[in-house]
Amino acid sequence: MEAKVTEIQFVPKGDARGQLIALEALSEQVPFEVKRVYYIFDTTPGTVRGNHAHKNLKQVLICVSGACTIVSEMPDGTKIENRLDWPNRGLLIEGLVWRQMKDFSKDAVLIVLASEHYDEADYIRDYNQFKKECAK
Ligand code: TYD
Repeated sequence: MEAKVTEIQFVPKGDARGQLIALEALSEQVPFEVKRVYYIFDTTPGTVRGNHAHKNLKQVLICVSGACTIVSEMPDGTKIENRLDWPNRGLLIEGLVWRQMKDFSKDAVLIVLASEHYDEADYIRDYNQFKKECAK
């Protein structure tokens, strides 16, 4: 799987009552079957989460309230920063990408749609191991 980070714009179905965003699995916005959803909230100020890569997981990250920053390090060492600060913005992360989540606002709720069930064996939590995998 090619390592890739893609910002996705969701189109809200807005009307006089307000906004609604609907996401379908196996769509352009979520190009995989969703097997798991988790969310991060009530984050202690200054916290940096993540610090890992996945071998075989696709994820779409959406900050449905507040804001946070996702830092992605690609296999060639390139770093990308995406500030997620609106519910119509998603970030698709595929392949071998070292990711960090940081600069959470107090009200941040980061929802993650994942293509696989939780599997600790899919994690690379050691940065040197990540760099070794990238060199392969
Ligand atoms: P952790 O990997 O530290 O989260 P992050 O990537 O945001 O830094 O996960 C925190 C705890 O939650 C850890 O004990 C593993 C557990 N966990 C699950 O049980 N299921 C999940 O889907 C996730 C993402 C974590």
